[in-house]
Amino acid sequence: RKRVLSGVQPTGSIHLGNYFGAIKNWVKMQEEFDAFYCVVDLHAITAGAHDPKELIKSTRSSAAIYLAAGLDPERSNVFVQSHVSAHSELCWLLNCATPIGWLEKMIQFKEKARKAGEDVSVGLLDYPVLMASDILLYNADIVPVGEDQRQHLELTRDIAGRVNNLYGGGKWKKMGPKGSRAPSGRFRGGDILRVPDAYIPEAGARVMSLTDGSAKMSKSNPAEGSRINVLDTPDEIAKKIKRCKTDAVEGLEFGDPTRPEATNLLTIYQLCTGMTKEEVLKECGSMRWGDFKPALTDAVVEHLSPIQARYAEIMQEEGYLDGVLKRGADAANEVAEKTVADVRDAMGFMERI
Ligand code: TYM
Repeated sequence: RKRVLSGVQPTGSIHLGNYFGAIKNWVKMQEEFDAFYCVVDLHAITAGAHDPKELIKSTRSSAAIYLAAGLDPERSNVFVQSHVSAHSELCWLLNCATPIGWLEKMIQFKEKARKAGEDVSVGLLDYPVLMASDILLYNADIVPVGEDQRQHLELTRDIAGRVNNLYGGGKWKKMGPKGSRAPSGRFRGGDILRVPDAYIPEAGARVMSLTDGSAKMSKSNPAEGSRINVLDTPDEIAKKIKRCKTDAVEGLEFGDPTRPEATNLLTIYQLCTGMTKEEVLKECGSMRWGDFKPALTDAVVEHLSPIQARYAEIMQEEGYLDGVLKRGADAANEVAEKTVADVRDAMGFMERI
C-alpha cells in the first residue's frame, strides 16, 4: 500500500482552514493508504519564545481533534512528532545537504521573518527541513496539505533528490533497480529517500479570513473574528458569521475576483454541506446576505457539532488518548529508525557496535 503522511502545528486553535485544507482529507485517505499523521510540536516552537504549559495542552488537544474529526487509530498511526527522535536526527543530516539559499527563498520564512523582526530563530529558517524530515522518514508517497504548503513540498522533493544524488552510490548501487544507474555511477531516482507528491484539494485548499476575503484564514491573525475554530461554540460561530465581511452586491456567486468574500463564504457552505458548487449556486445564488448568513451558520454548526461531541468524549476518557499516541509513536519509531539508519549508513557514519 502507498503511504500518506501529514501534520498540523499545535499552535493556537485548529480552524476551518486546517480542517478543510488538510484534516478532512486525511480522514478520507486513511481508507486507502498506510497512514501516518502527527502533531508537529517541534515546529510549534519555531516562532519565538513559547509557553511550555500551553504547548502540552495544545498538543493533546490537537491530537484529540484529529481523532474527533474521524481519524481511526485502527487505520491511522496518530503520534506526536517529538516522540520520535529520528525527526530531529534526520533534520540535522538533511540540514547539511541543503543549501541555505533554498531556505532563504521560502515565502513563509520571508513573511514570518518580516513580522518577527529581531526575534528570528535559526529554527524558523530551518522549519522546512524539519518538515522534509517528517515526510521523508516515512517514505511517504503523498502529503495532503493546503495550498500554502506547496512550496515546502517542492523543497522536500528537491532535498530528497539532492540526497539521492549525493549519497545514492555505495551500497545503494547494489540495491537499485536494474538499469537505474546514472552516467556518474550513482543512482538518481529515490533509492535512499522517496520523492513525495503533494495532494492539494480542489475546494478548501485556501480558506480565507472572515474579515478579509483576500487574506488566508490563519492561526496567527490577532483578530479572533477572522477565523472559525473547530471547537467554537454555536454562539461564537453565529457571532463571527454575523460580523463577517460581505459586499453590497445583490445575489451570491463563486469566482468573481472583485467579490472574494462571496467565493469564500459559498465555498465554506459547500464544504460544510457536502454539496456540489452547482447545487450551492442553485440554492443560494439569488439569496441576499441577510438570508445566507443564518443558513451558513446552521451548516457550520451542524458540521462541527458531532466533532465537538466526540472531542469532549475523548478528553474525558481517561487514558484513551495516551494509549493511541503511545501505539502511534511505537509504530512511527519502527519505520523512522530504519530510514534514519539507512541515511546514516549511506552518508558514511560508522556503525554503532
Ligand atoms: P499548519 O499547522 O500551518 O497548517 C496545517 C495544515 O492546514 C493547512 N492550512 C490551510 N488550508 C486551507 N486554508 C487555510 N487558510 C489554511 N491554513 C492552513 C496547511 O496547508 C497545512 O496542511 N508546515 C506545516 C505543518 C507540517 C507538515 C509536515 C505538513 C509539518 N510537517 C509534514 C505536512 C507534512 C504547517 O505549518 O501547517
